[in-house]
Amino acid sequence: LAEKVKIIHGDHIYSVAGVARVGIPPFLPADGPCAVRPELADNCTYLYEGKTNDIAIALPPLSAVAATWNPEMGLFFGETLGNELRARGKDMSLGPAINIMRTPLDGRTFEFMGEDPFLAGHMAAPVIRGIQSQDVAACVKHFVANNQELDRYDVNVTMDERTLREIYLPGFETAIKEGESWGIMGAYNKLRGQWCCENPYLLKSILRNEWGFKGVVVSDWGAVHDMKRAALAGCDLEMKIGSDYQFAKLEKAVENGELAKSVVDEKARRMLWLMAKIKKIGPDTASRIKGVLNTPAHRAVALSIAEEAIVLLKNENNILPLNPASLKTVLCIGRNANLKVCNGGGSGEGKPPYEITALDGLRRRLGDGVKIEYISMEPNASNPSDQIIANLAKTADAVLIFTGDSHAEESEGKDRTDIKLPKGQDEMVEKFVSINPCTVIINESGAPVAMPWVNKAKALIQFWFCGQEGGNALAAILFGDINPSGKLPCTFPKKLKDIAAHALGNYSAGQLNYAEGVLVGYRWFDAKKIVPLFPFGYGLSYTTFDIDKPKLSASVFKNGDTLAVDVKVTNTGKRAGAEVVQLYIAERKPSVIRPPKELKAFQKVFLQTGESKTIRMKLVARDFSFWDTKTNNWKVNAGAFDLLIGNSSRHILRKTTIHYKL
Ligand code: GLC
Repeated sequence: LAEKVKIIHGDHIYSVAGVARVGIPPFLPADGPCAVRPELADNCTYLYEGKTNDIAIALPPLSAVAATWNPEMGLFFGETLGNELRARGKDMSLGPAINIMRTPLDGRTFEFMGEDPFLAGHMAAPVIRGIQSQDVAACVKHFVANNQELDRYDVNVTMDERTLREIYLPGFETAIKEGESWGIMGAYNKLRGQWCCENPYLLKSILRNEWGFKGVVVSDWGAVHDMKRAALAGCDLEMKIGSDYQFAKLEKAVENGELAKSVVDEKARRMLWLMAKIKKIGPDTASRIKGVLNTPAHRAVALSIAEEAIVLLKNENNILPLNPASLKTVLCIGRNANLKVCNGGGSGEGKPPYEITALDGLRRRLGDGVKIEYISMEPNASNPSDQIIANLAKTADAVLIFTGDSHAEESEGKDRTDIKLPKGQDEMVEKFVSINPCTVIINESGAPVAMPWVNKAKALIQFWFCGQEGGNALAAILFGDINPSGKLPCTFPKKLKDIAAHALGNYSAGQLNYAEGVLVGYRWFDAKKIVPLFPFGYGLSYTTFDIDKPKLSASVFKNGDTLAVDVKVTNTGKRAGAEVVQLYIAERKPSVIRPPKELKAFQKVFLQTGESKTIRMKLVARDFSFWDTKTNNWKVNAGAFDLLIGNSSRHILRKTTIHYKL
């Protein structure tokens, strides 16, 4: 009994004791969702500060992976992260993190996969498969409704059942059913008055009984409050900072009859099941993947993801791509041009062997023949006068103005207080954006930011936090080596009050009710007819595409059918590129409040100039369903549904109708 209890709670911040007697080594989970985190001591200080023992590649965070809208990038991401975890001797990746962006203020928006559960789930599933293909368990997190850092340890989230089922659970459901995640992390917060790690509705009824989850429920660090409640609710592995584990009391509880031995046996068995899955124990240990760090192949994945994640938001007069041959001097203004962003953010931090900032990327791409002037505009730096900068801007061949956050603004543990750019940046843009006709704004942030100067920006790029190869990816996009293909995984609002939670005043500590219901993200903007700064799913290209009329495999559809939707896409422009075809459903006459449209399929298609390809997207009854609180099940009403097909949630190019028959 004592040995079983030992393997179902931590013994150090990132380890679970083994049982040498029967050959079970310690079990080692590791942050973070986009890099193997630097090693921490129990008191959260770095074990190897300034040393290279715990170097590992820093991939673009998951908000950037989501912006690729390419599941293959998710797979490569997972394979690379999993392989590096193995190289560092780890057993579980504490990720992917997929909490829905309910507020852009959430400090961890950069770590998560946007505002739509279909996109988040279908991008997380390949990440999970990739990680687990390397004999490392994934641990999709944070289950559930950890949608802000404000009061994250104690906030009590309430929401109606449809909202839970249609918005906050589906990403996790897909991660479990399609990603087959072997781990899931219970969140800190309460749901409807019960701690998530002590919530049998979540951890048993839904996770085990409905979804058939076989893996291990890991608590977030310190998220178990009561041993008995957590044990009986279905939490399997208690982790925390410190050594006073609740689960250490399980041995006595069983011995004095307070808890059945089977409760401990079930958890210990799940841990053994997991260790066998990752070949840590059992007959396959010799063939377990060993992993390598920072290889050319891993660096190439970091670069490819960043290249596919960058979103071209504006390109008037085809300012972009810039032609390096025509450049003698380039002026770069703004601290984000030279900001390292991989080594911050809390548990999402990395410690990469190097980080290519935008400025590094420009210098590498342009070589010595082009003069690059850099002015940080940092408040405490000795910047030239505005007049001097204006003169430089006038005479430069191109002006690149960098806006954006750092992890001082976006990080685990705190939310931003607004979506404004850091102090002084809006003024910086206003001063210099209109001097030179060849001016590009590059915004580096994990979350949406307000852009009051957007109409003055002729060319605008969303750069995200893009990992250790970010600067090289940005240079490739700026100079046209790569054609941008990223799409926004979240709505960029004009102002914070346009976001449902803030429009309704439902963003707070303590008791928090998700009164907006299913109308979160673009669902809210569509329902309230609010014009976003840039819509969900939006992103431009250096070429153009035609999306032809969809062909349906049937015009009538019933439960059990699979509807095939074929769409021919043609590259009608002058260079190769990729388009993301998005399919939204809209019930014509819903019997309950439903969003005007909901994403239910997407596919990224790469095309040479003039090339056409027909892509096939598939829909099943669940894609048309809403959660019926009368029957407590998914339901599709008989009737007409519109299929809306486009390359952004606000750019629907084709529309057709399907009739659902009971
Ligand atoms: C943190 C985070 C979680 C992380 C864990 C271990 O509080 O919420 O994402 O994996 O603790 O560091």
